[in-house]
Amino acid sequence: MKQYISFSFMAAMLLLSLHHLQDSEAAIQCSDVLKDLSPCSSYLSTGSGSPSTACCGGLSAVVSAASTTADRRAACSCIVSAMSQNSPNITAAAALPGLCGVTLPFPISANIDCSKIS
Ligand SMILES: *[C@@H]1O[C@H](CO)[C@@H](O)[C@H](O)[C@H]1NC(C)=O
Repeated sequence: MKQYISFSFMAAMLLLSLHHLQDSEAAIQCSDVLKDLSPCSSYLSTGSGSPSTACCGGLSAVVSAASTTADRRAACSCIVSAMSQNSPNITAAAALPGLCGVTLPFPISANIDCSKIS
């Protein structure tokens, strides 16, 4: 029992320190980025019509949350992995920031290089 407790304690400390490490690198969470951008999914998958107000609002929320280089890179990686899983209409995705009047720190394309973001 005592051993079990100390093991859980160590595991909890390890998790906490890992979490803290991630926090110091980037405060932005991929899950938040995806949640913000979820209203965009129908526009992005079909490429038809125009993005909704909720979609544009989500996009500007991501941009304002990504205030440091680490955050912008984290948001970028998150979008890249979401794009590889959902294969959106790239033309529509690339047009999205312009349609919303939001400036992204990186252009959306089929091969985004997140490490180039500063
Ligand atoms: C992608 O969206 C554009 C309009 O933004 C449309 O012209 C094009 O046909 C769409 N492509 C596919 C593969 O759906």
